[in-house]
Amino acid sequence: MTMTTARKVELRRGLKDVYLDTTEASFIDGGVGKLLYRGYNIHDLAEQSTFEEVVYLLLRGKLPTPRELEAFDAGLRAERSIPRGVVEIIQRVKDAHPMDVLRTAVSALAAFDPEVKDNSKEALVRKGLRLTAQAPTIVAALERIRKGLRPVEPNPKLNHAGNFLYMLFGKEPDEEAAGVMDVDFILHAEHGANASAFTARVVASTLSDLHSAVVAAIGALKGPAHGGAAEEVMKMVKEVADPERARAYADALLSRGDRVMGFGHRVYKAEDPRARHLRERSRRLGEVKGQPQWFQILQRFEDEIMFPYRAKGIYVNVDFYAGSIYYLLGIPEDLFVSIFALGRIPGWTLQVVEQYTNNMLIRPLLEYTGPMDLPFVPIGQRG
Ligand code: ACO
Repeated sequence: MTMTTARKVELRRGLKDVYLDTTEASFIDGGVGKLLYRGYNIHDLAEQSTFEEVVYLLLRGKLPTPRELEAFDAGLRAERSIPRGVVEIIQRVKDAHPMDVLRTAVSALAAFDPEVKDNSKEALVRKGLRLTAQAPTIVAALERIRKGLRPVEPNPKLNHAGNFLYMLFGKEPDEEAAGVMDVDFILHAEHGANASAFTARVVASTLSDLHSAVVAAIGALKGPAHGGAAEEVMKMVKEVADPERARAYADALLSRGDRVMGFGHRVYKAEDPRARHLRERSRRLGEVKGQPQWFQILQRFEDEIMFPYRAKGIYVNVDFYAGSIYYLLGIPEDLFVSIFALGRIPGWTLQVVEQYTNNMLIRPLLEYTGPMDLPFVPIGQRG
């Protein structure tokens, strides 16, 4: 919203529609629901590539040849372990929300990273790749520790997505599960100046380091208006429990002025193109697992209850179907937003690289609306 105050200051609340800088990371056309990573359509990447290939594309700037990908992937696989000291910290804070644990553990990793102070582009990319490789190990270790189990060592024979599920559950995932996880990571890898990437850029713009930027981004992602929506959607779907109850549930929720989580987006005023891939996988996984009811409830919301909202540009976003997928994979709800973070680390890294490459301190203004020039009464004369 643009507002003009008494002093004729132009306010752009929420920085809505404000261009902050240029980027080569991703292109979003919110009017038609189009998303490109470095020029490549998200649909092609979701259908034909792997997360490793997408990480290469984002952080090395082009699609890899088979040989380049092999060497790159071997490098990622070799970086998955986390220091013993970080595991001990996870043990200490295991009862906090998993995003708080992830944020704390990523912060702790800075103490072990030999390049923490090096903000050259090459070092930033190396650190971003290390964080990309290590973050799944943190999330999986937390899940094991809080269940009273020993963390599972990374398995270098498995790809990024497969290894994450392996470390989480202690057994190799089937092809369907590993494939779904891979696509989910691809879809979450990068998304322009969203709230968490913007946060990372603000931190980088002070010439702070990548770990600080990622820690701050994790904090921003946690909120339900951003990455926390998937968890809220699944809570809602479980409360609804039966597709026949969806309408009454939604009517009560909307009449209270609450929002249906997983709908609406600051940039997309058409369908979020990432939702297409998760919708189809949510349906398929529900059938495979003999639990079609979750998808049926989600469909009621999309096709019936929220249909009239399309006139206002409110469609499903990436989080709407993601929660049901994680749930069907057996992942606890409070881990959902951490999974989003695992996918997004390459995007945050790239945003930080871009910020450093042509840095300018990000420092907007606030229009002061409080009282002016009040007489100061010393404390002894007050009250
Ligand atoms: N359900 C019902 N109404 C909604 C929803 C929703 N999910 N989202 C927006 N609206 C309505 C608002 O009530 C408002 O209506 P009004 O003009 O009558 O007051 C209008 O749409 C515009 O809403 P804003 O909040 O101004 O739009 P903004 O662009 O700031 O919000 C946001 C985007 C925060 C994502 C919002 O759509 C929302 O809260 N959605 C639910 C949470 C969610 O799914 N978040 C995940 C976003 S995707 C991501 O981060 C990966």
